[in-house]
Amino acid sequence: MKRTLEPELMQIPSQVRAYADADFSRSDSMVVNSLEKYLKKVGRTLNQNDLVLDMACGPGNIAERIAKNWPFVNVVGIDGSIEMLNEAEKKLSESLTRNLSYELIEINSIATSEIHVPFKADVLVSNSALHHFHYPCNFWNALKKLGKTKCIHIHRDLIRPASVGKAFEIKEKHLSNSPEILKKDFFASLNASFTVEEVTQQLVDAGLSQLEVFQVDELYFEIIGCI
Ligand SMILES: C[S@@+](CC[C@H](N)C(=O)[O-])C[C@H]1O[C@@H](n2cnc3c(N)ncnc32)[C@H](O)[C@@H]1O
Repeated sequence: MKRTLEPELMQIPSQVRAYADADFSRSDSMVVNSLEKYLKKVGRTLNQNDLVLDMACGPGNIAERIAKNWPFVNVVGIDGSIEMLNEAEKKLSESLTRNLSYELIEINSIATSEIHVPFKADVLVSNSALHHFHYPCNFWNALKKLGKTKCIHIHRDLIRPASVGKAFEIKEKHLSNSPEILKKDFFASLNASFTVEEVTQQLVDAGLSQLEVFQVDELYFEIIGCI
């Protein structure tokens, strides 16, 4: 099945609300687990004042988990949608504001150098972000600009199913009890996402082939490594 683009930014209030209200805890926790496992595997620890950037953080679920898990590191969630960041900021408790903040940044403009971000990350994570990009090379080029040398990468996203019928089947299987708007969004995301082969090629083209990409389950692939 050919890829069908969806809008990059999520800005429609009802869509943002439905996304922020949904329970993605299983998938969210897997990003944190993958980071923990990778750190252990390569014998690295996160140090005080290390910077973790959550790219296209949406309502901040993953940024929050990371900030709670490593309260001594700085976590910044970036997203181009003010509507999403408003949701993220609503959930910021006093204790979290010490090491978690959000920045309104449109990621393509980092890639094209329209804006310069005055910080570099020790860890870059993303979840369900890549498939939003109409030009995925912009996502990878932004990451290259944002990461320090030896930056750790953990990225997770949906895999595009083989057919529209399969995408429909997956939507019904995984979101049967969810609100219609969330189901519609999930279906659009499945159709906009990439195959593991396409992502592998993107990494080669971006000069990031040291990162490992692999299928995790029926829905997701992960990209893990250090550059
Ligand atoms: C499906 S949500 C994922 C949110 C979050 N990472 C999570 O896992 O819950 C995708 C997010 O990517 C953001 N986004 C898409 N394209 C973007 C861009 N070009 N620059 C910044 N943010 C972008 C959207 O606004 C939206 O918040």
